[in-house]
Amino acid sequence: MEKIINLKDLLKHEILDLYSAEEQIIDGLPKMIDKANDPMLKEALSSHLETTREHKERLDIIKHTLIGERDETDDGFFSNLFGGSNSVTCKGTEGLIEEGEKMMGEDMTPEAMDAAIIGAAQKIEHYEIAGYGTARAYALELGMNDLAAQLELTLSEEYEADEILTNLAVGQVNTEAENAEDNDDDEDLDFEEDVPDADTFREESIRTSGL
Ligand SMILES: [Fe+2]
Repeated sequence: MEKIINLKDLLKHEILDLYSAEEQIIDGLPKMIDKANDPMLKEALSSHLETTREHKERLDIIKHTLIGERDETDDGFFSNLFGGSNSVTCKGTEGLIEEGEKMMGEDMTPEAMDAAIIGAAQKIEHYEIAGYGTARAYALELGMNDLAAQLELTLSEEYEADEILTNLAVGQVNTEAENAEDNDDDEDLDFEEDVPDADTFREESIRTSGL
């Protein structure tokens, strides 16, 4: 990795990190949509997937803006930055998505699953909010106001997505999870009711054996 010397280098790194985050979220969201049960949650996540694709495109333009400011003819700039910068992996998002997938692999009621999905999605949202907020602050400090405005636009959409999830959680999903019952256990109980207890079983055995 090349040495990071100044705030502009940090901004470039942050943009690449966010680009990786958006790519991973585009890959990860379909699994969450698939696991979600509440139709409104499915809809909110699906619409955020579309917005995330736009965020990635916006970052593509930002990357080119940064290249242009340095040297428009230097096509290899980003491939040389930070030791092959286009392959920068956002470890934070990677970990959060992995944690979410592990959670979704647990055995839980549909109601608990929806609440867990919102929790996992909001952790990712908050990470993005921190990343875009940091990048915007760097851009403003560097006097790159157009770039800062683009980052601000995405940042506001991340806040919006987070608020939609909060409203869904507080408005219905968490309450449904609070009142959720384990239907699988009910079935087990019904089954157990048909099984004779030990005394009945012994009496029945004695009667049928003729003793
Ligand atoms: Fe995003």
